[in-house]
Amino acid sequence: MNKWFNRLSLSVFAASLPGILTTLTFAAETNIQDLAGKDAPTGAVWLDTQDLSAVGSGWGVVGAGKAVGGGSPLSINGRKFVHGIGTHAESVAGVDLKKTASRFLAAVGLDDETSNGGSVIFQVWIDNVKKADSGLMRGGDAPKLLDVDLTGADRMVLVVTDGGDGNASDHADWAGAAVFATGNPVKMVASDFKVQDMVPNVMPVIASCDPAKTSINGPRIVGTTPGNPFIFLVPATGAELKDFSAKNLPAGLKIDSQTGIITGSVEKTGTYPVTLSVNGKGGSVSRKLVIEAGNHKLARTPPMGWNSWNCWAGAIDDAKVRAAADAMVKSGLAAHGYQYINIDDCWEKERDPNGDILPNEKFPDMKALADYVHSKGLRLGIYSSPGPWTCAGFAGSLNHEEQDAKTYAKWGMDYLKYDWCSYVAEKDSGLEGLKKPYKVMDKALDNCGRDIVYSLCQYGMGNVWEWGEEAGGNCWRTTGDITDTWGSLSAIGFNQNGHEKFAGPGHWNDPDMLIVGRVGWGPNLHPTKLKYAEQITHITLWSLQSSPLLIGCDMSNIDKFTIDLLTNDEVLDVNQDPLGKPAGRVADSNGIQVWSRPLLDGTYAVGIFNTGMDTVDGTVKWSEIGIQGKQPVRDLWVKKDLGDCDGQYTVSLPAHGAAMFRIGRPNKD
Ligand code: GAL
Repeated sequence: MNKWFNRLSLSVFAASLPGILTTLTFAAETNIQDLAGKDAPTGAVWLDTQDLSAVGSGWGVVGAGKAVGGGSPLSINGRKFVHGIGTHAESVAGVDLKKTASRFLAAVGLDDETSNGGSVIFQVWIDNVKKADSGLMRGGDAPKLLDVDLTGADRMVLVVTDGGDGNASDHADWAGAAVFATGNPVKMVASDFKVQDMVPNVMPVIASCDPAKTSINGPRIVGTTPGNPFIFLVPATGAELKDFSAKNLPAGLKIDSQTGIITGSVEKTGTYPVTLSVNGKGGSVSRKLVIEAGNHKLARTPPMGWNSWNCWAGAIDDAKVRAAADAMVKSGLAAHGYQYINIDDCWEKERDPNGDILPNEKFPDMKALADYVHSKGLRLGIYSSPGPWTCAGFAGSLNHEEQDAKTYAKWGMDYLKYDWCSYVAEKDSGLEGLKKPYKVMDKALDNCGRDIVYSLCQYGMGNVWEWGEEAGGNCWRTTGDITDTWGSLSAIGFNQNGHEKFAGPGHWNDPDMLIVGRVGWGPNLHPTKLKYAEQITHITLWSLQSSPLLIGCDMSNIDKFTIDLLTNDEVLDVNQDPLGKPAGRVADSNGIQVWSRPLLDGTYAVGIFNTGMDTVDGTVKWSEIGIQGKQPVRDLWVKKDLGDCDGQYTVSLPAHGAAMFRIGRPNKD
């Protein structure tokens, strides 16, 4: 028996075992060596001798025997290969086999030209069934052998997906890629195969809010500046709610017993523990809310609300903002703590002769709009740029900062997103140049006589998380714009690790707005392209990271799954935890990540994520989160106690999915 036949029979055997993929590591050394040279194995043809024009690549120029970046020879962890295909994630390449091929071999890995950068997964799909998977590979990993039986196959698709952190540096080599075939039938063809379509879309079982039970939800601490107007809707769920009350309100505030809206203006600096209560058909409940009054006390917890951009973008107008406020109440979202209705770009027109900013014809009366939003107990937000123009080309605030802040206050705005766009920093001004425009507006907001949450948006330039607080930001965008794809979500979400140490009460990392529900960035909306499991990953990650939760969809047309996703109070309690310590990653192996954060009551919130494309088990070990022994575990998405577990907990996770837990025994008080 020749050595190729020998190995072929092993791969057929492995492929026939359910659940075992044909990623063969045994005898890998010899085989990889055999794929490195000039000559193809007997009976095989090198794939890179074919026409490669149909091979897809996320970046660069697909290389025949060359890496995708600079055209250097293929090299994985120091091993050189004469033949193979150099490509870049995301990459899809179709190979027409016409049932004449018997076997595919390749040594896969990230090319050395990125100096150990990148992370990818290589897959081989045969007639729409995945037959080989490299698992997560990182730059610097030794090549892995993929060995696939092609008997009777019509079409092979070679896929490179990013490893769950975006596709930067994903220079991926199918080194020594060879097909064994009779004659020379192998032809590279364009493929419309979409990896994303191969991720199953199974609706997970998650808990709904119990509409019968009376409950007070939302933040447990809220800040304000003495002397400035204050508005806060007590978020409460349950049937026939009445008799809202608030014991020990600071002087200057009052609560409307019918609506639960607290208004007024706190007279003196101080920390005021208030007891909120409400009666309903499902019982009477009370809960503590701390009102903290002082300078720079806004956003004690991450802002929760809605922003117009991911939904309407340039199609926003007064009617859509009012509809959003109506829908936030009617859908029940406001009753879980969502509070801000934020107008993004495209409301502006030009300046009047006094230099005052004017809204365009789609916003006939900003003050009336703010009054309408406030009448529901909600807060209204607005958008501008420190440059002369906003990103959509409308008037920005350059040289009008004080004036604009006063205008926003006069209209009744409660939130400002301040977006870099056309701003040009002074030459050689370095980091100070990045900070400067934000400090200018911060001062203007401080002097405007209204509490306006200040949201910096400059996409993470100059590591904004390191100085956003110093520049006065209550939150700062850490990334470019998000879109509703797994690539965008995973690249942004999983790359936040390390930023957590810079955030805390009053100053939060902002990895951009939510992309669940019907989104669209314009007049035409579509259901999010994210799979259900990916949406669980999204909200789990954003909650663990204390990210602002700004809904980006049409709330007046929202499905039950999205509502359940956005109104799970146990998940939201993690996001809003008053300790304000966002999660970081504590474990990361084989596509399973564990993120953890301590909570005020002494327990830990933990997310386990599967960035791979198969259902697999994920485990959190107590040692990873700093606890020991038997600890109670509660599943937050299902709202179910799982009992005491010793040392670790393991859960089955769907492709791109996540599970979220509260682990540990709460402190007595
Ligand atoms: C981008 C910003 C988006 C949106 C848009 C408006 O720079 O990141 O979130 O605000 O501008 O033009």
